[in-house]
Amino acid sequence: MIKKGIILAGGMGTRMSPLTKAVNKQLLPIHDKPLIFYPLSILMLAKIKDILIIVNKGQLEQYKKLLPNGKRLGIKINYIEQDKPRGLPDAFKLGENFIKKEGVAMILGDNFFYGQSLSKMLFECVKLKSGAKIILHKVAHPEKFGIATVKGKKILSLNEKPKNSKSNLAITGLYFFDNNVVKYAKKLKPSKRNELEIVDLLNEYKKQRNLSSEFVGRGGAWLDTGSIEDFYKTSNFVSSIENLQGFKIACLEEISFKNKWINKKTIYEAIKFYGNCEYSSYLKKIIS
Ligand code: DAU
Repeated sequence: MIKKGIILAGGMGTRMSPLTKAVNKQLLPIHDKPLIFYPLSILMLAKIKDILIIVNKGQLEQYKKLLPNGKRLGIKINYIEQDKPRGLPDAFKLGENFIKKEGVAMILGDNFFYGQSLSKMLFECVKLKSGAKIILHKVAHPEKFGIATVKGKKILSLNEKPKNSKSNLAITGLYFFDNNVVKYAKKLKPSKRNELEIVDLLNEYKKQRNLSSEFVGRGGAWLDTGSIEDFYKTSNFVSSIENLQGFKIACLEEISFKNKWINKKTIYEAIKFYGNCEYSSYLKKIIS
């Protein structure tokens, strides 16, 4: 069972400058909550309680104001600063002491997942005993993502942002790894764009015939909030669903309460922490 998770929430956010000059991208709002709530909610839905958030150097204090150590959510949050964006696999080098001898899930801080069968899929993924698992989703613009070609469930190739790909299956920013990930990450060399590449890491598992995949089904949504346009699209998506259905996506306290990690008293403390706002009114509804 995978019990640890990393959220990679650093990066310079250059594609969203000037919004990201003073504030980290993952702290900007997606409708009614900071972006970081959404990937964190995915780990919590996967029943992962031990979490490492990797943030940009100099931005730790901003994060700690919002999510100090996880106690309020019944989880444990550790932080590490990344001094510059060296690529996604750098997370496993930075997180070596956190991962120790266990397997680990990683989600990118700017990824958004939503869908009916999501919890079921996550629960299957954390059962991973050896190898790595990626989550695939069809996209309209393969040139913007890591792309996999597959035959049935077998993965044939993996390429980062291919120019003319025949496949439209994006490798989403949610990955599950056994403990070899630290060893493989340490062996990687930077690519032409001077970054450690996640597809190189995944190819290492593929070489060992130990890479599998799952799909976010047709009823599910996956959105990467990398550009300003995608950011607002995601925000509108959340706002539409929440307004239509009257529940919140990624209400962390609600997930934790349902997981029985916190009780009513802790939710009252959260209400005090957030103050008089719509999010607090929703929390009141949960416990009434
Ligand atoms: O969103 C899925 C895609 O994410 C995958 O399909 C690609 O294979 C994968 O490379 C990645 O592509 P992006 O171009 O979206 O990666 P980006 O550089 O935007 O980084 C994603 C997040 O990770 C972002 O929130 C910033 C953070 N990050 C990134 C790097 C390179 C870090 O915290 N540190 C880093 O060193």
